[in-house]
Amino acid sequence: MSQAKPLRSSSTGALKGTIRVPGDKSISHRSLMLGAVAVGETVIHGLLEGEDVLHTAAAMRLLGAQAERDADGVWRVRGVGLGALAEPAQVLDMGNSGTAARLLMGLVAAHPITCVFTGDASLNKRPMARVTTPLAQMGARFVGRSGGRLPLTVVGGESMIPITYRLPVASAQVKSAIILAGLNTPGATTVIETEPTRDHTELMLRHFGATVTTERLEDGALAVTVVGQPELTGRTIHVPSDPSSAAFPAVAALLRPGSEVLLNDVGMNPRRTGLFDTLVEMGGDIAFENRRDQAGEPVADLRIRHSRLKGVVVPADRAPSMIDEYPVLAAAAACAEGTTVMLGLKELRVKESDRLAMVAEGLTRCGVSVEVGADDSLIVHGTGSAPKGGATVATAMDHRIAMSFLVLGTASAEPVQVDDGAFIETSFPGFVALMNGLGATIDEV
Ligand code: S3P
Repeated sequence: MSQAKPLRSSSTGALKGTIRVPGDKSISHRSLMLGAVAVGETVIHGLLEGEDVLHTAAAMRLLGAQAERDADGVWRVRGVGLGALAEPAQVLDMGNSGTAARLLMGLVAAHPITCVFTGDASLNKRPMARVTTPLAQMGARFVGRSGGRLPLTVVGGESMIPITYRLPVASAQVKSAIILAGLNTPGATTVIETEPTRDHTELMLRHFGATVTTERLEDGALAVTVVGQPELTGRTIHVPSDPSSAAFPAVAALLRPGSEVLLNDVGMNPRRTGLFDTLVEMGGDIAFENRRDQAGEPVADLRIRHSRLKGVVVPADRAPSMIDEYPVLAAAAACAEGTTVMLGLKELRVKESDRLAMVAEGLTRCGVSVEVGADDSLIVHGTGSAPKGGATVATAMDHRIAMSFLVLGTASAEPVQVDDGAFIETSFPGFVALMNGLGATIDEV
């Protein structure tokens, strides 16, 4: 990552316009990985060209696949076929991306190759035992730093064993890592999740020709089973725009009087839309127009108008469907009337930064009254109008912390500065230009 890039966001007038935010990050990673182990060509329209996904593309090339971008922005992946990933001659650098690291560790674990994974200072702090524990049960071996952290070496299993594994944390990354290992394992591999997490891996695997079934168990949990060693065939994929990126202009438009913004082609997978449900409960005027299906994923155009928001209680069981959106929800809550209580946020502590701590610290600096509960809840006492702002907020290499506080700055009495906006490039290239095009005032400092 390049040098730190401080950014300042100042109070602005109405936000107006129609935009398409970049492609979905989760779907983009998966399309490159599955394209690489399919037979034939996978054509990807709308791939997110953020740094996280570009790290995945580079890794797939080191593993033997071809992944190139056409002049018209379409990506073409020529796969090697399942089981045929090559041992990379170099370290796989996953940059800032937990998704890239964890999913790829699952995929290579079931190939008879040795791979060394590393990442940036943020990724190398994040827990990996959550994936290495089940993958080791299947037959792969790992040598990492304490806590299973990167840099870490994966020695893929020669004869992998299918397992049934109940997830100890609600994590689509862990679920996906096991499913991707199960893909090249003979027999049926099952992951049981008590809380439904995003199912892009399951949906896309079916699209590529694999058999993936989902069964509800007596205790209400979901059992996801993949039948190993299918023939995967290259496909065409249209990546919807990322609801987690749409969240930023959406909240900014809700907060600025007179705003009306149309966000086109936003992914509406129900396991991703918890933020929009919450904003509607808070009184947000969000219309879901032109609902349709795009290559197996639901999408809609979102029309968002300024609204007076009020505080709500966000239940813990909603967390998996909006896990990346709490920082920007906290910005909305800071401007809402009354108190917003967000429950069950333990997982926020192990994201690109400790988001619970970073949000609480940043909001406090901006003059907002916040409490973090011992149960990892976040309580934000809304100002009902513009928060004070007038502070520089630390972002700890976290793109979503940076964007959330820049959104807060659009609605604060005094500008909000973030110490480093460079990491926004990991997930939302063009964020500042897109926001300023709608009428925001975000400047390099
Ligand atoms: C992702 C899953 C989530 C999310 C991350 C992307 C994915 O992580 O925070 O940004 O693409 O599977 P967890 O599943 O570990 O919560």
